[in-house]
Amino acid sequence: MIESPVPALPTGRPVARPFDPPDDLGALRNDAPLSRMRYPDGHLGWLVTSHALAREVLADARFSVRPELRHVPVAGAPESNQPAPPGVFTAMDPPRHTRYRHLLTGQFTVRRMRMLTDRIQDITAEHLDAMEQTGPGSDLVASFAQPIPAQVICELLGVPYAARARFQGHALDLFRLGATPEEMMAAYTAVHAFIGELVQDKRANPADDMLSGLTETDLADEELVNIGFVLLGAGLDTTANMLALGAYALLRRPGQIPALHADPGNAVEELLRYLSIIPFTVRTALEDLTLDGRQIKAGETVTVSVPAANRDPGHFADPDTLDLLRRAGGHIAFGHGIHQCLGQQLARVELRVALPALFTRLPALRLSVPPEDIAMRSDMLIYGVHRLPVTWGDRS
Ligand code: HEM
Repeated sequence: MIESPVPALPTGRPVARPFDPPDDLGALRNDAPLSRMRYPDGHLGWLVTSHALAREVLADARFSVRPELRHVPVAGAPESNQPAPPGVFTAMDPPRHTRYRHLLTGQFTVRRMRMLTDRIQDITAEHLDAMEQTGPGSDLVASFAQPIPAQVICELLGVPYAARARFQGHALDLFRLGATPEEMMAAYTAVHAFIGELVQDKRANPADDMLSGLTETDLADEELVNIGFVLLGAGLDTTANMLALGAYALLRRPGQIPALHADPGNAVEELLRYLSIIPFTVRTALEDLTLDGRQIKAGETVTVSVPAANRDPGHFADPDTLDLLRRAGGHIAFGHGIHQCLGQQLARVELRVALPALFTRLPALRLSVPPEDIAMRSDMLIYGVHRLPVTWGDRS
């Protein structure tokens, strides 16, 4: 069969339907859930758009996550052809990955996450207090969605919150499509230096936080610094975008808000599925193999579209409808397999606490600009909104 490959993945979402994946992904899922895709560097690889195949690829040890093997599916995304440095376990296969994952799972304990719930409630209340004092009216991204997860991940790791300005701006550069290699390097160097100082401080003055806990293992300084870097990077922008995009989706569909209050746990799973803020995850075949009846050769890269899989009508009934009452279990918004999100319980607690608190405290919350003026993050690797201008004052 002669098949013309589809072009590299588009970024962002259609502007008029900001929560929906592009139509072509749905059409592909119907016709060829495993399609040939032409990557921006010319590589002829693959694109997976169905839920079943997505899970199959992500659970298959014959696929590697290593950056030096893969081709990047969107133009302008950072590329590395270097093997993962010590500690950057997100980019490692077993057995290197297994050792780090083990050590870290021991730090993300149920006890620590449960203790955090009270703290997250307090942090959320403090930010809502501040909004009420300065409002009515604010940018929800700056006043709510970004600072709450930033403060939580800082406290969890033991990063002084006041020092966050030293890494927060730089961390944004690491996730911006089109950031120049110089900008990336400057960002990496600055955040690295910051965490390096912190690790020395934790070794000298350990406290009840995760970085201190990790200094008590056999991890070397370089590994600790890189792990701190990975966790800060992964914990900052992800939850922040889910909070902002989740709030935006609910402001556009206010009829769903009662269901959020009735069962925040269930509602958050549906928001994660429907919004799928991580657009894709990438693997490379380590050997020749057969998938869905097709031959994939060693060295070929397979990109899994998370939004396409999470909108698969073969797995979720009426998938393009946001329905906070549905059972959305089995979504792959946190990935699947051995690299499934390490911070998912933390992210869930943050979303379950902060979103209902927002709509309880500010029942008149609404957009203060027309929806077409909301700038979507089509230029970033993690989807969301750049700003979310809202008000909650009396309607005149
Ligand atoms: C709503 C928020 C979040 C979403 C949607 C999300 C999504 C994801 C996804 C899709 C993956 C899998 C990537 C792959 O397959 O290659 C992942 C992995 C990961 N996430 Fe998250 N994440 C979120 C929050 C967090 C938080 C708060 C943390 C940290 C504290 C975190 C830490 C990680 C780490 C360390 C990995 C890599 C795990 C590994 O390679 O073993 N994430 N996340």
